[in-house]
This record gives sequence, C-alpha cells and structure tokens, in this order.
Amino acid sequence: PKAIKAKISQLTEHRSKRVRVAGWVHRLRQQKDITFLTLRDGTGYLQVVLQGRVNQTYHALTLTLESTVELVGTLQVVPEGKTAPGGHELVVDYWQLVGAAPGADDAFTNRLNERTNPSIQADLRHLVIRGETASAVLRLRSALLTAFRQTYAKHSILEVNPPCLVQTMVEGGATLFKLNYYGQDAFLTQSSQLYLETCLPSLGDVFCVQESFRAENSHTRRHLSEYTHLEGELGFINFDDLMTHIEAVICESVDILLADPTSAALIKQLNPKFQAPSRPFLRISYVDAITWLNEHGIKRPEEDKDGNPIKDENGKDVMVDHAVGDDIAEAAERQMTDIIGKPVFLYGFPVELKAFYMKKMPKEEGSDLVFTESCDLLMPNVGEIVGGSMRIDDYDELIAAYKREGIDPSGYYWYTDQRKYGTCTHGGYGMGVERLLAWLADRYTVRECSLYPRWPERATP
Ligand code: 4AD
Ligand code: MG
Repeated sequence: PKAIKAKISQLTEHRSKRVRVAGWVHRLRQQKDITFLTLRDGTGYLQVVLQGRVNQTYHALTLTLESTVELVGTLQVVPEGKTAPGGHELVVDYWQLVGAAPGADDAFTNRLNERTNPSIQADLRHLVIRGETASAVLRLRSALLTAFRQTYAKHSILEVNPPCLVQTMVEGGATLFKLNYYGQDAFLTQSSQLYLETCLPSLGDVFCVQESFRAENSHTRRHLSEYTHLEGELGFINFDDLMTHIEAVICESVDILLADPTSAALIKQLNPKFQAPSRPFLRISYVDAITWLNEHGIKRPEEDKDGNPIKDENGKDVMVDHAVGDDIAEAAERQMTDIIGKPVFLYGFPVELKAFYMKKMPKEEGSDLVFTESCDLLMPNVGEIVGGSMRIDDYDELIAAYKREGIDPSGYYWYTDQRKYGTCTHGGYGMGVERLLAWLADRYTVRECSLYPRWPERATP
C-alpha cells in the first residue's frame, strides 16, 4: 500500500499502517543483523528498526548520528513490557539517506553532550538546540507565547507591532544601543511602552511581543543584550487594577499550558516540581521590603560617592543595612524571593530609582520622599520578571519630568501629544519572556531560554 506521509507527533492515528517519515538520526544502536535508531523530526521522537535487506546496505552500515533519513515502513505497536516513545515503532521496508553527518567521532557530535564547556556550547548553539533539553525549552517557549496570545485575545487586547528602530529612550540613556541611521542618531528600542501608550485612543488596550535591546554590560544569569519583551498597556485603570491584571495574564497563560498535554509534559520534563502559583500574589511595598531585608540580615555592599564598592582590609565588600532610598540590587532581590518562595510584587519605588514617565503616589505628610505607582513582579529563582507602572497623565507633570531627567522634550513631541489630545489614567508593564521561561522551566540562566542569546561578548551564531 502507498505510505502516508506524516510527522512523528501525528503517528498514533496511523498505527498498523504504512507511513513515510523523515528526520534526523537522534540515537543509533547497530547490532549484527539489526539497527535500532531514534528518529527526531522536531515534533517528537520515533523508535525505528532496520533489519534484513534494508539493513544490509552500505548506507545502513555507515549510518551516523545527526544524518537525515527518509523512512517508509509499518508502524507497529510495541509489545507489552517494551517502551518506545508513543508506544509504537517503525519497522522499515524502504529508506533513503538524505544527508550524511560526520558521525560520533566528530567533535561536533561529541560536543552536543550538554555537559561541555559553556563557551563551546555557545559557539555550537546551532547544534546544541538539537538536544533534548534545549529543544524542550524552545518548544515550551513557543507554547508560552501562544498561550499569552490566547489570553490577550480572551481579554480583547489587541496585538500591535511597534518599531525596533527608534529615536527616543524609555529606560534611561545609559543602556541604549546607538546606530547611524542615514546620518542621524537612532537607537535599538529598549521598550515599546511609549508606542503602546499612543495606541490606547485608537485601538484600546494593546500588547506587543517585540525584541528589546539593552547595552547593560551585565554578565548576570538574567541579563541579555537582546531579549523578547512582552508588553501591555491598559487605559482607564488604577494601580490596583494593573497588578491584578498582570497576575491574571500570567496565571491564565500558565493554566492554558498546564491544560494542554504536550506543554504540560514539557513543563514536567524540565521542572518536575512546578506548581501553578495561586492568586492573589503577595504584595510588599518598597518601604516594607527595605525593613524586611534588614530584619533578615540581607545587606548591600557599601559604595563610595562614585558608586564603587568599598572594600575592607581583606579586599571584601563592606556590607551595610539597606536604607529607604536605596536600590534593591539583584543579589538582595534574589535572596528575598528565594526565602519567600512564591511570586511577590514589590511596589511603590522612590521616584529617583525609576523612569521619567512613572506616576507619583500622593506625597505623605512630613516625608521628603516621593514614591511612584510602580511595581516589579519577582519570581523565585529569577527575581524581577515584570516591571510595570501607572504613567504620568498630566501634561505639566510630564514636562516637569522631562526637565528633572534632563530629557530634551523635542524628540518626544508625539508622546507629549498624548497628554494634550485627551489624556486618560493608564498603566502597563513589560515582561522578560526569557526570565518568565527561566522560572517556568527552572533554568539556571536566561541564556538557555533564548534561541540565540546575546550578551556583551556574544552576537554569534
Ligand atoms: O523593568 P523594565 O526596564 O521596564 C520597561 O522597560 C518598561 N518600559 C516596560 C513597560 O512598562 N512597558 O523591563 C521590563 C522587563 C523586566 O522586568 C525584565 O523581565 C525584562 O524586561 N528585562 C530584561 N530581560 C533580559 N535581559 C535584560 N537585560 C532585561 N532588561 C529588562
Ligand atoms: Mg525593571
């Protein structure tokens, strides 16, 4: 009978039939009269048997890992007591070598082993992603983005596609990648927030999935120079609505993943202990967080007036208590989230620590400090995965904010116009997709959660 062309993931419906599949040799075991191989086609893994005539060819005898093959045969249910992916195996009656690979002695195939040196792994990322763990992370990443899109559709929030090439900054000039744009200065976008804000009057609530770029020169587990930024902006909401919404989109999207057998299996494979977080998330104000850190003995390195750490006589950082007004650095934040052990919103950061556009909280009697309606969502094992805030909606206040931050307002005319032509209370947030995935898939670093991660020394492959 004519063979049915199929992908591995669709094979269950073709059991006992003659099928044609194509893919890469993922595992290979050659015995005297029989060859067992595992075929990989991106949708799954298939156990394959070559025996008899089809195993007595030159290509069968010299078959190597990572070669591509096209196979035709009968799909047989594996006998009781034997295991195979999907519970079936392909007994081949005809096959063809499509592309040979150098084989197991080749340095590349050996290096596919996930334990090799990180810098070699990074050089060979294009081959490493063929591995079971790396491809599972990328598969889950795809499912995650689909789940978010479904969640936004359910909430009637539209997807837009803002530009990557921009002439304004959002999160401070220090981390901009500058480029020559036909003789003018332009930048790679840090955040699409300002563009999303301009969509509210025409499209209503919006979101985007866009690459953001940060020239941060950070070598931490959670910093990339380019990352996928999922950002949302909502009109006519208050600060409490904003945090409730962030919680909802995350929890609803995670629920979609857990309800789908394929993505639930990926989560189980990568993060067996994962449990969906319960709502509402804990909320701790910035001021309370400072107290909490001091109560738990979590200190910060003391800095001189130029921001360099002060060392003791043994060359170690001098550690001091946190004070209100201090930034909560990555190390302290991580210790905090690890102790708390579940998602937590930190909210109400001082104006000085945050971006120009953030709406201020009403000033407290007798205090000089001004706080903002801002929130960071922290997850165990990663720390900050979302940054959000309410936005300044008053024209004069925005002009004052440009001035305070030393921003030339002329390039921002289109943003300022939003406060001139019918302003509204609104707020939004940005989520680092790689950071969210690091939490969900229990990865040590966001570098494992990006297809081709970029950090200061790396823009290859
Ligand atoms: O906190 P950030 O800088 O906030 C913004 O950009 C806002 N304008 C977003 C908005 O309100 N629309 O960045 C948001 C998130 C962070 O919480 C973090 O998850 C991620 O983006 N992020 C990074 N991820 C990887 N590498 C980096 N260098 C990142 N910088 C920020
Ligand atoms: Mg932030």
